Amino acid sequence: MFTGFLKNVWYVGLPSSELAINKATARKILNEPVVFYRDSKGKVSAMRDICPHRGIPLSYGRVVNDNLECPYHGWKFDGTGMCTEIPSLCPDQDLNPNKIKVRSYPVHEAQGLIWVFMGDKDFDLTKVPQPPVMQGFPEGKKPNLTYVVNFPCHVDHAVIGLMDPAHGPYVHKSWFWRSEKTMLEKKKLFGPVDFGFQMIRHKPSSNSKAYKLLGGVPTTEITFTLPCVRVEHIQVGERKFYSYTALTPVDEKNTRVTQLAVWDIPWLSLFKPAVDKFGKVFLGQDMDAVTKQQEGLKYDPSLMLIKDADTQAKWYYSLKTEYHNALEEKRPFVNPVKQTELRWRS
Ligand code: FES
Ligand SMILES: [Fe+2]
Repeated sequence: MFTGFLKNVWYVGLPSSELAINKATARKILNEPVVFYRDSKGKVSAMRDICPHRGIPLSYGRVVNDNLECPYHGWKFDGTGMCTEIPSLCPDQDLNPNKIKVRSYPVHEAQGLIWVFMGDKDFDLTKVPQPPVMQGFPEGKKPNLTYVVNFPCHVDHAVIGLMDPAHGPYVHKSWFWRSEKTMLEKKKLFGPVDFGFQMIRHKPSSNSKAYKLLGGVPTTEITFTLPCVRVEHIQVGERKFYSYTALTPVDEKNTRVTQLAVWDIPWLSLFKPAVDKFGKVFLGQDMDAVTKQQEGLKYDPSLMLIKDADTQAKWYYSLKTEYHNALEEKRPFVNPVKQTELRWRS
């Protein structure tokens, strides 16, 4: 079982809303310091956040003429990481700045998120899991709600905690959700999708008050894709609601959770503050659980994954391991998930 960080995949760097025109900002991803900057035309670039001259983080610098300028001696770098100017050079000094490069990363911006490809140089980007698209939303649409929180745990525990169907009645015990007194047996059909698996569209269970609030007959589909993106798509007639969760490993002990809520349900917008509160409380409850879990994990106990409640967690590990092994062995990825009906009580 592979428990390291997956490489050669897209991770969320940050929400689009956190990077203004002509601004730079730093994020740690897979233990790497990465600086993102947006030029005057809106284009985002990402590179290693260390100046090749004397090591200061470039993110302390500023964006000048669509280049990122180091705060220490003013060397400038373009979006490909190439040095374009060394201000201290005299006209007759023949050092070619263009030969100096900072490592840059492919960037992709869509639907309110800035993604960064953490992988080998010149990797074939058509052969990797693509950031999931929320169908039916125009490119310019901003997410209705955006949250970024840090879970103080390894990405594997964060992923499993978020996909785990059995913790609801215990962790999310609140008036608007479920309690152990209303636990029911659930039966859901799952099947493979590209680089992941999906809970196939179905009517939500009748004890979900949150779904009832939506009105109409909502149907839900939940998709998990490597490296760690979970998209819940609720369709109510013509209207849709997406809960989009993407995790980014920061280091061995921290995972950034980026959560979007996106909808085109006009009446739901009237309740935006309530939805916002709900989202914050819900994420906070998950964070609280994984934070407490750390106290036990310090002792490196052996852990269990049981049928069927933890089958999705098992799939996560097998997908991740397969992706890692397929790359190591230079062979195509074969999805290990088979169509399965899972049953649990929650
Ligand atoms: S440290 Fe960046 S220009 Fe000198
Ligand atoms: Fe949860």
